[in-house]
Amino acid sequence: LAFPVLDERLSARLQVRLAEVEKALTGHVRSRAGFVTEAASHLMEAGGKRFRPLLVLVAAECGDHPEVDDVITAACVVELTHLASLYHDDVMDEAELRRGSASANARWDNHVAILTGDFLFSKSSELTAELGPDAVRIQAQTFTKLVEGQILETLEPGPDEDPLEHYLDVVAGKTGSLIATSATYGAMFGGASPEVTRALTTYGEVVGTAFQLSDDILDVASDAGVSGKTPGTDLREGVPTLPVLMARASARPEDQRLLELLASDLTEDAPHAEALALLRAHPAMDEARSYVMARAAEAKALLAALPEGPVRHALEGFADLVATRVT
Ligand code: FPP
Ligand code: MG
Ligand code: MG
Repeated sequence: LAFPVLDERLSARLQVRLAEVEKALTGHVRSRAGFVTEAASHLMEAGGKRFRPLLVLVAAECGDHPEVDDVITAACVVELTHLASLYHDDVMDEAELRRGSASANARWDNHVAILTGDFLFSKSSELTAELGPDAVRIQAQTFTKLVEGQILETLEPGPDEDPLEHYLDVVAGKTGSLIATSATYGAMFGGASPEVTRALTTYGEVVGTAFQLSDDILDVASDAGVSGKTPGTDLREGVPTLPVLMARASARPEDQRLLELLASDLTEDAPHAEALALLRAHPAMDEARSYVMARAAEAKALLAALPEGPVRHALEGFADLVATRVT
């Protein structure tokens, strides 16, 4: 499981349910065109933590009927939406590696990657229709937020806007929204109370944002062997992530070289490697880590609305994982 579920009975039940999700997903990525099936299963087969579907399943345990089929369907919806967004994101980021395999754009080309992303999103939408109009509305709103976040990321903050606030807005949109929806769907279809559903939604948004920010830190700090992605990709693409923004905001006199590099083109290997090394050694890395840990703690605190027990512990464990990921 993508995050620690200490209770053995809960863990066993979730594993069985996740296997059902996995089996269903294999069916959902099938197309009448053999090549489309191949392209659409590519990233799914390359790996992935499936933590959005897992969050659906765990959130469903907060309700009185977590075992219904709609919970599995909802878990497939969020994973297919996530997968679709990765195909498109790798095109935008010109990423070559995803989940330790060639990205779809690298393996084939941008056209294949974009249309396969569209195919997966269509499949996700077809499936959402089975869940009724409320689910369709939520999925559509989530799609809006994903796209807004992803577009805002390509834009400079406004003249009166704090770059860090702009960035947090980006992250809440491109990642927090779908993770929030995973928690909402689980709660909705598992039969949780409106109060618990609301708490889970907010928890999802906060923990999801913290998760993406932890990803930013790992993009700078970790090696490809650990993350399955090329280190420093955001830096190379000029995407100003949390450590970069914090380094800019807290620059010391000795940071002049780093600031110069951050303001320049880092697509070439030599300046990129130099910037990566300087950033890795900068106190902004620890500042970013503290920020992520504080957001994870905030997410945990939101779980006070849930009854004490193994399900709440599992959700707390996820927040803890986000925090320890960066240490
Ligand atoms: C990864 O961020 C990107 C996202 C989490 C969201 C991408 C959203 C879209 C492309 C718009 C929605 C599109 C569809 C079809 C639903 P990243 O590049 O920082 O992370 P990475 O290191 O994993 O690449
Ligand atoms: Mg990317
Ligand atoms: Mg991106």
